[in-house]
Amino acid sequence: MPQRPYIVGNWKMHGTRAMLSEARAIDRAAQRHMKVEVALAPPYTLIHPVHREAEQIGVGAQDCHHEDGGAHTGDISAAMVADAGAKFVILGHSERRQNHAESDEIVRAKAEAALSAGLRIILCCGESEETRAAGDAVAFVKEQLKASLPADHAVLTNGSANASERVTIAYEPIWAIGTGNTATVEDIAEMHGEIRALLIELFGEEEGPEIRILYGGSVKPENASQILSTAEVGGALVGGASLTADSLMGIALAA
Ligand code: G3P
Repeated sequence: MPQRPYIVGNWKMHGTRAMLSEARAIDRAAQRHMKVEVALAPPYTLIHPVHREAEQIGVGAQDCHHEDGGAHTGDISAAMVADAGAKFVILGHSERRQNHAESDEIVRAKAEAALSAGLRIILCCGESEETRAAGDAVAFVKEQLKASLPADHAVLTNGSANASERVTIAYEPIWAIGTGNTATVEDIAEMHGEIRALLIELFGEEEGPEIRILYGGSVKPENASQILSTAEVGGALVGGASLTADSLMGIALAA
């Protein structure tokens, strides 16, 4: 059965307790619009408070570390974000790959730890402006995904679940993040089509078509309808426009 469009807010490093009212407003609005799956990834400090109050929206983490616990000052393990109530984790975001030197290997290790902790993963990929200008965007993104996904796909299905219930892909061209410049619908359609072909190659004809592929990069209520109606776009990963209920739900209602 096809899954609902998936609209995920990534609050990044925004979110004090004063924003709990916004999370509540998003949750109330999502209860009225069940045709779309709405989720929020607040900072670690708000995972439990938002989870405790949310009735409809999924609550996730923006990242996690792959250690099970122990002497890692300042790190937060996959098991800990699950314990706080998170149901998914965003991994491989370009801001972490760039700012925290996260290699594909590190992202893969985190993905395996998160899945083992029972979390669903949203695995991010995306090219730089230079890579796109060189005409290498598709090749780069496919290699990045292959190297970041768990090598053993059994980790994804965890024995019983469908891979599509445990993994979502988010294509976020780096040059579109926070810039107000989205990719053209032609570029989005091309890249999502290539990612879909890769997922079918990796997961087979049954599972491959079911894994949702989100688009991220300056999605706003004004452009959401065009982006979300593009082939192979199963939802959006939203940064700036997710900080208020009005704008995040404005995107969700366009799905
Ligand atoms: O993870 C989503 C984010 O990278 C997109 O940010 O502000 O361009 O919607 P923004």
